[in-house]
Amino acid sequence: MKITIVGTGYVGLVTGACFSDAGHEVMCVDNNEKKIEMLLKGEMPIYEPGLDEIVERNVKAGRLKFSTSIAEGTKFAKVIFIAVGTPPGVGGEANLTYVEQVGREVAENMTDYHLLVEKSTVPAKTSEHLKRTMRKYLKADVDFDVASNPEFLREGTAIVDATHPDRIVVGVESARAGDLLEEIYKPILAAGGGQFLRMNVTSAELTKHASNSFLALKISYINAVARICEMAGADVEQVAKGMGLDPRIGPRFLHAGVGYGGSCFPKDVDAFVRLSDAVGYDFKLLKEVQQINKSQREFVMQKIKRELWVVQDKKIAIFGLAFKPETDDVREAPSLYFVPALQEMKAKVVAWDPIAEGKFREALPDVPLETSQDLYECATGADLVLVLTEWDAVKNIDLAKLKSVMTTPVMIDGRNAFDPATVRAAGFTYHSVGRA
Ligand code: UGA
Repeated sequence: MKITIVGTGYVGLVTGACFSDAGHEVMCVDNNEKKIEMLLKGEMPIYEPGLDEIVERNVKAGRLKFSTSIAEGTKFAKVIFIAVGTPPGVGGEANLTYVEQVGREVAENMTDYHLLVEKSTVPAKTSEHLKRTMRKYLKADVDFDVASNPEFLREGTAIVDATHPDRIVVGVESARAGDLLEEIYKPILAAGGGQFLRMNVTSAELTKHASNSFLALKISYINAVARICEMAGADVEQVAKGMGLDPRIGPRFLHAGVGYGGSCFPKDVDAFVRLSDAVGYDFKLLKEVQQINKSQREFVMQKIKRELWVVQDKKIAIFGLAFKPETDDVREAPSLYFVPALQEMKAKVVAWDPIAEGKFREALPDVPLETSQDLYECATGADLVLVLTEWDAVKNIDLAKLKSVMTTPVMIDGRNAFDPATVRAAGFTYHSVGRA
């Protein structure tokens, strides 16, 4: 089938690449000419393991094309996925300017039936606005549908998530739209990809909000338990293991640490709180989830202060700038809090990250940051190492060598990436989260 995807960010590019790999003919559209130029040259605008090979394979096979024109994309396929950014705008609400723009341009260029599918995470009821926009700008008397097909991709494992999803949720208002989407997902379902769920559009939109918020809640829950563990003399890793073996709870997303970040959880929890407020429900539980997440960073900061006593003039080596391993994304990453806060206290901060340095500098252009491409060089002369991202290179570090280059061997592990006994046996003063 022919499919157009508008937006070549994580969601759009991964979805487009995987649809083409499943045998569909795909056109990925983006108004950012630089991005399209890069893609045409075979360069990836984002870091996602395995994506470059899939893109290359399908471009060569003629199944994957790129364009900067929505008009061309509208002509190319009758099913158009909207995967443009919905960043937080003024006051924190999702900025839907790009979504509206796609709806408008598609409507202006449509000469026959089209199905417009929301793939970006949007506030519930966006489909209603999109339909109104389409009707306003349609030039021909043609039919259309708007559907919701939320994505559940995780950065770093997006390809596996896209090709082997647990579930495919589609919100539709007509059998025609539902059948078209089922046809698109047929090869992925045939390859063993989860259940196909049809529901109404608002339910599909809400499924996304409710899923991400629940995962964020799980993380904040275990982080709160971690705080209690420290005070009561327990080990949160053991508690999480004991809890997670109950299949009703499950072991995943029970990893305590410095709190969740990324482009999704903070934004989506916030959006769900706002939506709930708007429909008249005060979602206090989720507000507490946000509060716990914020205070988790401060909790780790207290450990640094307690250990160093005076932070000024101390060298702090930060291991990891990305919000999680296997991505260069720093949106809402703990590093965005710790680097400026420690510099404000006049610490000498040096950071190491294999790929996220560029994105960090883009995010905080006014924060001058010294970096090193080598973990040991980064930690040379340091009074304290702070682990913010559990990269494999960090977890596999030679502790004896690390200790030998540091001024004082102190490690604050914001990700519980190490076994406390091993690090202490190597001669470190070691603090993690929730392990008394
Ligand atoms: C998240 C969801 O997991 C995806 O299902 C969803 O599709 C995506 O958002 C989205 O809405 O686009 P992602 O933001 O890529 O995916 O990252 P996660 O792997 O979920 O991690 C989010 C944050 O939680 C990271 O900062 C991670 O370090 C943290 N985390 C995760 C914990 O602190 N503890 C855990 O046990 C798990």
